[in-house]
Amino acid sequence: MLRKLFQNTRKPGNSIGGKIMLAMMNRGHKPLYDFGLKHINLNEAKEILDIGCGGGKIIKRMLRIATEAKIVGLDYSCASIKKTLTLNSKALKAGRCEATEGDVKEMPFKTNRFDVVTAFETVFFWDVEKAFAEVFRITKPGGRFYVLCELSDPQKGEKWTKMIDGMNIYTKEQIKIFMEKADFSDIKFFTKKDMICVTGLKK
Ligand SMILES: C[S@@+](CC[C@H](N)C(=O)[O-])C[C@H]1O[C@@H](n2cnc3c(N)ncnc32)[C@H](O)[C@@H]1O
Repeated sequence: MLRKLFQNTRKPGNSIGGKIMLAMMNRGHKPLYDFGLKHINLNEAKEILDIGCGGGKIIKRMLRIATEAKIVGLDYSCASIKKTLTLNSKALKAGRCEATEGDVKEMPFKTNRFDVVTAFETVFFWDVEKAFAEVFRITKPGGRFYVLCELSDPQKGEKWTKMIDGMNIYTKEQIKIFMEKADFSDIKFFTKKDMICVTGLKK
């Protein structure tokens, strides 16, 4: 039963399990959001993309900081998109927020669009090489891509990779290599306990 519930972390479904998991993630990922927001530079960003937006809580927090920016959420789960739009309904009405259903491997956005791209607790489920190349495409020259994870030690995270189908945990060094392959440069790491923030620049 627990195994079934946790499959919703990979792709929240429309069942009650999916809704519970979205609410749990919005609350449970607060330490990662707090950590990430210390390192993500939102100054002067006009358009921000949050990939794998889940329940949309980090979008709500970034909207409060980047008051001039428009923030777009992308997720391949319809349940995630619905929750993100409900949680950010005021910003949606004000034209400051959008959320789009889609896969990170092939995003419905034009080339060189976003100043800041964030990915919180989601790269575990990606086809990383293809996805990072696609993130590079939609990032604006001078823009940055930020990957944030609570789990970055494959051994410590084994209980999760055994429970959740298709989940892979990457070290910060592996994420750096994937970013370099996608052509990101000036790659930096920030860490707090097992939490990591890896960021790369599109020159
Ligand atoms: C563990 S949840 C994290 C949600 C949110 N970022 C947070 O921090 O609470 C992972 C999210 O990434 C989404 N996701 C996973 N793989 C994806 C892909 N290939 N394309 C788009 N979204 C994806 C899932 O649907 C899910 O909503």
